[in-house]
Amino acid sequence: MNILAIETSCDETASAVVTDTGDILSNIVASQIADHAAFGGVVPEIASRRHTELIGSVVAEALDSAGLDKDDLQGIAVTQGPGLVGALLVGISFAKAFAYALNIPLCGINHLEGHLSAAKISNEITYPHIGMVVSGGHTSLYRVKNPSSIIQIGQTLDDAAGEAFDKVAKLLDLGYPGGVIIEKISVGVDPHTVDLPRPMINDGSYDFSFSGLKTAVLNRVVNEGIFSEMDLRFSGLPQSRKPVSGKEELIPKIASAFQEAVVEVLTTKALQAVRDHGSDLLVVSGGVASNTALRSRMEEMSAKEGINLVIPERKYCTDNAAMIGIAGIRYFNQGLFAPLDMNARSRWPLINESSTGLNET
Ligand code: KG4
Ligand code: ZN
Repeated sequence: MNILAIETSCDETASAVVTDTGDILSNIVASQIADHAAFGGVVPEIASRRHTELIGSVVAEALDSAGLDKDDLQGIAVTQGPGLVGALLVGISFAKAFAYALNIPLCGINHLEGHLSAAKISNEITYPHIGMVVSGGHTSLYRVKNPSSIIQIGQTLDDAAGEAFDKVAKLLDLGYPGGVIIEKISVGVDPHTVDLPRPMINDGSYDFSFSGLKTAVLNRVVNEGIFSEMDLRFSGLPQSRKPVSGKEELIPKIASAFQEAVVEVLTTKALQAVRDHGSDLLVVSGGVASNTALRSRMEEMSAKEGINLVIPERKYCTDNAAMIGIAGIRYFNQGLFAPLDMNARSRWPLINESSTGLNET
């Protein structure tokens, strides 16, 4: 069975073809980074418009590079939520029209289940396990009892980790997307020359908080006078685009210290969840899981603690449609089809969603 997958929840227009045996026949991602960079973040209206322009050619390319024709498809899996509603609707409308025209079933997939399912690509996954999604919109811990029963055990109380990367990059005037740039300028920079907090690290919960860490970075930037003027009305965006002469070298030090603080919090909480639940497998996914410092710290920790760790390949950590197709396999196997009047769900936590087939016990 060949499944066409479509993902348009944020700023990547993505389509893939996967088989019901878990093979990835194609995986096409058209990034909109260049369209949003000038604004320092994703502009929802621009995202929707670009999805509309790109979706047809991205799906055509996914079919083409899989060597298939649309008549070779037996099902369509589309991200139903959570995400930007206008962006989601582009993918959903396209998927509905395609499914209707081809007379094949459609499934609405939760983007977070997609991130967790990316672990199944090239890996044997055992259950139950602990799953962590660290992205631009989410930072959550899950107990994955089986493929259709995922219980959220913790989440961020404010900013997501990726969002914090993006905001800190903005207030250090590093540009967009923040995570990738902070990772790059932190290479080889001692993360311990600047002291930053590790919010909630040892509070015993599986929840996170990153907005205080971002504020600590802001305070540091202001107190050090790195930029001659900061516009504190807009979460401290530097007014002058150039750092004050002699202060430049502080920027990579702060970036590296920030990355270290995030990595330490994520690793500590993941380990705690694994230990408390007696789990021997940890899955870490989402855009931030493509961060090299996080990947290597998770690997070190897992090796030391005797935990099996699965972090998908980088291209399957950041938003992509292959993960949506892989998550969709069980929907097709179990006949969990979406009606053609299915709607986007801008908010859709992975908790007790038995109506979609998620989380039934
Ligand atoms: O999963 P994703 O592609 O989209 C969402 O579902 O949000 O994650 C995007 C987030 C962004 O905030 C981005 O800054 C972050 O992942 N990110 C990174 C890295 N690559 C992407 N954060 C840290 N290091 C990276 N290398
Ligand atoms: Zn995502």
